[in-house]
Amino acid sequence: MFLSLKTAAVALTLFAATNAQQSIQALLASLGPAPAGDPRFTNFTPPGSGDVRSPCPGLNSLANHGFIHHNGKNMTIPHLLVGLAQGMNIGADFTIAIGGAGLLSSPNPLAGSFDLNDLDEHNFPIEHDASLSRQDAYFGNDYSFYNPNWQMVLSHYAGKTQTDIPTASAAKYSRVNNSMQINPTFTYGLREFILSYGETALYLQTMSDPVSGVANIDYIRSMFEQEKLPYALGWRPSTSPITLPSLGNMVFELYTANPAAAPEGAKVTADSYKDIFEFIVGGSQAFNNLTGGFSSAVGL
Ligand code: HEM
Ligand SMILES: [Mg+2]
Repeated sequence: MFLSLKTAAVALTLFAATNAQQSIQALLASLGPAPAGDPRFTNFTPPGSGDVRSPCPGLNSLANHGFIHHNGKNMTIPHLLVGLAQGMNIGADFTIAIGGAGLLSSPNPLAGSFDLNDLDEHNFPIEHDASLSRQDAYFGNDYSFYNPNWQMVLSHYAGKTQTDIPTASAAKYSRVNNSMQINPTFTYGLREFILSYGETALYLQTMSDPVSGVANIDYIRSMFEQEKLPYALGWRPSTSPITLPSLGNMVFELYTANPAAAPEGAKVTADSYKDIFEFIVGGSQAFNNLTGGFSSAVGL
C-alpha cells in the first residue's frame, strides 16, 4: 500500500512536470511579432495616474502600447515572452535571461513577477551608472528620461540619419567618461560594462535588425524621447528575432570598436553577454528555479 502510494505520488509529480514542460514548449512555439495592423502599434497611451514605469525605454514603450500591462505591474516571464515578441520580435532566450534578472529586483523574486518601478534598484541586478538617457542614482533619479545626457549621445550622430556601430560605441563611451568625471560614487565593473553594451545593441537591433547596426535615428529618438514605437514613421518589428547570440555578437562588435579595456582584466567574447546573466542570477539551477523552468527550456 505504502509503495503504491509512493509510486502514485512520483507518477503524479512526473505527470505535472511533463505537463509544465509541454506548456512551456507550446508557449515558446507560439511566439512571434504581431501582424502589421495590430492596433497596439498605433495605440500609444502614456502612463496615467497609478501606472509605473522603469529606467528601461524598451519596456516603457511596450507598456505605453499595451504589449505588456499598461499599468507596469505584475510582469511575469510568460507575459513578457508574449509581449516582447509581439511588440519587437524579441526572442525567448533574451526575454528569459533579462526577465530572470529583472525578477531579482522584485521584493519577492520567487513569486515570479516584478513591477516596472522595481527595476530602479541601483547597482543590482540591472540598473547601473552611465546610462544613455538617465542620470546616475547619485543625483537622485535613475529612472526618468534625462535629456542633457541623451543629447550627449545624440551629438555623436550629428549630421547622420542612421546609426552605425563605431558611432554607437563612441556615444556610449562618452557617457561613461562623463559619469566618471562628475559622480564620486561612479561604479563600473564588468557587469555594468557588459550590460550597457547590451543596451546599445538593444536599441540598434530593435530599431533595425539583429545584424546591421544601421537604424534610423528618428526611430531611436521616438523610443527614447517619447517611449513610443515609431510605427507611424515607418518602423516595423524586425522580421527575424533578436536573440542572446545576436545581441552577444553586437556587444562584441561594439566592444571591439572601442579602445577602452574591459574592467577586472576580463576577456570579452560573443558569449560574455549570455554569461553575465547567468552570473547575475547565480548559475543555471538558480536560474531555472527563479524562472519556473523557462531558462532550461531555452538552454540557459
Ligand atoms: C524583461 C525585459 C527587460 C528588462 C528587465 C529590462 C531592464 C532594464 C533596466 C533595469 C535598464 C536600466 C539600465 C541602466 O541603468 O541604464 C534597462 C535599460 C535599457 N533597456 Fe531594458 N529591459 C528589458 C527589455 C528591453 C527591451 C526589449 C529593450 C528594447 C529596446 C530594452 C532597451 C533598453 C535600453 C536601450 C536601455 C538603456 C537605457 C539608457 O541607457 O538610458 N530593454 N533595461
Ligand atoms: Mg542607469
